[in-house]
Amino acid sequence: MTANPAIQFFHVWDTYAKVVSGDYMFHRELSVAVSAAIRSRFADQAIRILDLGCGDAATFAPILQEFSIESYYGVDLSAAALELAEKNLAFLKCSTQFQQADFVTALAKSPQQDVVYISFALHHLQTSEKAEFFHQAAKILSPGGLVLFVDVVREEGQNLKNYHQHYCDFVQQTMINLNKEERDAICAHISENDYPDPRSVLCKLANEAGLKLVSSSVPQKWHQLIVFERP
Ligand SMILES: C[S@@+](CC[C@H](N)C(=O)[O-])C[C@H]1O[C@@H](n2cnc3c(N)ncnc32)[C@H](O)[C@@H]1O
Repeated sequence: MTANPAIQFFHVWDTYAKVVSGDYMFHRELSVAVSAAIRSRFADQAIRILDLGCGDAATFAPILQEFSIESYYGVDLSAAALELAEKNLAFLKCSTQFQQADFVTALAKSPQQDVVYISFALHHLQTSEKAEFFHQAAKILSPGGLVLFVDVVREEGQNLKNYHQHYCDFVQQTMINLNKEERDAICAHISENDYPDPRSVLCKLANEAGLKLVSSSVPQKWHQLIVFERP
């Protein structure tokens, strides 16, 4: 196995697709909340969207179909993921860009955006790198623009080791449509690559970057949407 987390992840992409279709990480509930957050801020206004760690964009595509999109810019480390994203978003009539890059690097160079969407990707970064993410996002957002942060979130006071143990128990007990080998692969990926922070830390980092909490949706304690705005 390579040391690159994105490439490692792509080895279990078929498994991730099963996790999404089984709604084991609450993608369905979170998508409804993402869509509501975009609608309440932008309604039918044309919006510019930056999708960081876009993967195959399969869960974001139906949401994008509901809105007037001025531009879509997807970034991922994985070329294979970007190829799928381009196919899944072929319906977009606006200007599109798919870039193979590290998302914090791409974010720092991005033109102004109305929405920075980052779904199940920021937890790969350490806390100091997450701080940098929020700073860069605040810089490139238009006034009133939103960060839509969907991710796994650690409980307050829960250390990383305890989180990994409990999350892996959750995987083994709930993801029953996956076979044992697939569940074990997810657990190995999580233990080696996932560094979720508690919600209070994420809100503090965003706040220090000048972003303001707008709303959140918590279908399950470890799976959350947190919406921040650039005032
Ligand atoms: C769990 S998938 C999520 C995909 C999609 N956003 C979703 O919600 O279904 C995480 C994605 O983030 C990408 N990724 C991880 N670290 C990255 C980084 N530093 N820069 C860009 N992409 C990254 C991986 O390649 C993978 O496609």
